[in-house]
Amino acid sequence: MKILVTGAAGFIGYHLIKKILNKNKKVIGIDNINSYYDTNLKKDRINNLKKYKNFSFFKIDLSNYKKLNDIVKKNKINIIIHLAAQAGVRYSIKYPRTYFKSNLEGFFNILEISKDNKVKHLIYASTSSVYGDSKKFPLNENDRTDQPLSFYAATKKSNEVMAHSYSHIYKLPCTGVRFFTVYGPFGRPDMALFKFTKNIINNHSIELFNNGKHLRDFTYVDDIVDGIYSLINKQSKKTIPYEIFNIGNGTPKKLLDYLKYIEKSLNKKSKTKRLPLQVGDVVKTHSNINKLRKYTGYRPKTNIKIGIEKFIEWYKDYYKIN
Ligand SMILES: NC(=O)c1ccc[n+]([C@@H]2O[C@H](COP(=O)([O-])OP(=O)(O)OC[C@H]3O[C@@H](n4cnc5c(N)ncnc54)[C@H](O)[C@@H]3O)[C@@H](O)[C@H]2O)c1
Repeated sequence: MKILVTGAAGFIGYHLIKKILNKNKKVIGIDNINSYYDTNLKKDRINNLKKYKNFSFFKIDLSNYKKLNDIVKKNKINIIIHLAAQAGVRYSIKYPRTYFKSNLEGFFNILEISKDNKVKHLIYASTSSVYGDSKKFPLNENDRTDQPLSFYAATKKSNEVMAHSYSHIYKLPCTGVRFFTVYGPFGRPDMALFKFTKNIINNHSIELFNNGKHLRDFTYVDDIVDGIYSLINKQSKKTIPYEIFNIGNGTPKKLLDYLKYIEKSLNKKSKTKRLPLQVGDVVKTHSNINKLRKYTGYRPKTNIKIGIEKFIEWYKDYYKIN
């Protein structure tokens, strides 16, 4: 098993690669280390991974078919786990072109490389955002996903249908995984947990969109990683080897309750600024995880209080806060 993980310097990529390396398997990681958020975080993640002798890293952009293809060919990669993307819903309202480049053109290169090298399994990241403004919960894999609210969601939905065509034409085994609001140590600075923690510590007010009425199926990063890992050798054996799975926690929480856990863990109250619903945002997510449970035995293990405490412990240690 020779594994390539794209988005290796990213939040989920980092945790996934650590898990694979801890199983004594080799991993090649690629990332362009872009400056969507603080690159020190990305560099520190890569430096941590480089402590493992089984890890090698290449700084490459997804648009570089030739270099990527050379790496896959030379290293006889047979599993690609594609996590590199321009993430974030709100940023996609202002900068859709970045999403077009990384998520559509970049994904096309990943499909071509997987096909050209007869990769045994391509697993790629999709998102709960593909469900759009659904009114029926929990969200099932076969629910309607053709009415995205943001261009980010549109690019991820496009990835799913692009992958289907390659599974159909070339029999390329493709598995799309729809993640539900991932949180945990070494997380992303553009996401609620990081922003709330940082602002509370620095006595700044936090912005509560939709007056804090959002409901999110917050999922701890180790559970997401377990879900991806459980799928590595489980490519579809159907005539069209194509599957989609939700990877979530299955228990949505109110954003205001999430904030309360953060305050409790920091032992400090927040100052809040309530704002209306942002264009592109969905109001609620709630995953049905039965499909993955039946397929691989997936069971999320981390409850939200413990998950938040682990993040805050990491945050204080990383930023040297007493
Ligand atoms: N974190 C979540 O809650 C969440 C939820 C749903 C889906 N996802 C998806 O999961 C994947 C991983 O997300 P994450 O939270 O780790 O995000 P992240 O931004 O931390 O990681 C993505 C990485 O991809 C790299 N990248 C972006 N464009 C690239 C390009 N053109 N070439 C090479 N590298 C590039 C970035 O530098 C970054 O390190 C993404 O595809 C994201 O859309 C994440």
